[in-house]
Amino acid sequence: MAETRTQADGGMETSYGFREVNTGEKQGLVNDVFHKVAKRYDVMNDVMSVGMHRIWKDAMINALNPRKDAGYRFLDVAGGTGDIAFRIVEASDKQAKGTVLDINGSMLGVGAERATKKKLADNLTFVEANAEELPFENNSFDAYTIAFGIRNVPRIDVALSEAYRVLKRGGRLLVLEFSEVDLPLLERVYEEWSFKAIPQFGKMITGDAEPYQYLVESIRKFPNQENFATMIRTAGFSRVSFTNYTGGIAALHSGWKL
Ligand SMILES: C[S@@+](CC[C@H](N)C(=O)[O-])C[C@H]1O[C@@H](n2cnc3c(N)ncnc32)[C@H](O)[C@@H]1O
Repeated sequence: MAETRTQADGGMETSYGFREVNTGEKQGLVNDVFHKVAKRYDVMNDVMSVGMHRIWKDAMINALNPRKDAGYRFLDVAGGTGDIAFRIVEASDKQAKGTVLDINGSMLGVGAERATKKKLADNLTFVEANAEELPFENNSFDAYTIAFGIRNVPRIDVALSEAYRVLKRGGRLLVLEFSEVDLPLLERVYEEWSFKAIPQFGKMITGDAEPYQYLVESIRKFPNQENFATMIRTAGFSRVSFTNYTGGIAALHSGWKL
């Protein structure tokens, strides 16, 4: 399970891909990755997932089924270039108001430009902040979403506690993340694709394989479905469940603040 560990000097260690690093160091390394890839992030997402991320994200929004009323408030954490927030606003018939939060200004910059082009900017606010320290009051949001973001956060337990704090009673947590593949044949193909093809495509498209090597390794270090569901329960959420997509390549976790 991805977890933080106390070192002899009292500091905390966590995984950065296959390396063990200090929790403080991890965030800096992750930020470098997303500063480097921001401009090509959307293209690479299509390449890396052969377009599947669009289907998984649509399924996430179907599961959320946002209310079509102007009082609906959602927070999309690690929202990057805005894919989840745009879908939620559209699914609410442009009624919902959302905050896209990300620690990385380069990713948010791309997101804000896309929001303007899609004429969704009036429904969205972009906030540069850390998932581990949300700049919002308790009980502020009807929904908290995070897609392909939580495995990059150094202290996942802290981010989940923050999610719980800012949700209203009756609010919903949805986490979409790469997970453990449960079909042996698919797993072999996926392994080859991940470790051989993705870093190569990354190098061809962005000129640098390293960020994509990190992304692939970080997927392997993330807790599997059951272990992550336990972390969500530990943060206080009720009725925790998960749904596998494409044989577990991705999984959607759900929890409620009741
Ligand atoms: C793989 S991208 C996902 C973007 C978007 N949610 C999507 O599905 O396309 C991961 C995002 O997590 C953000 N991130 C990493 N650590 C974070 C943290 N501690 N707090 C908030 N965002 C963080 C990165 O800056 C990056 O934009």
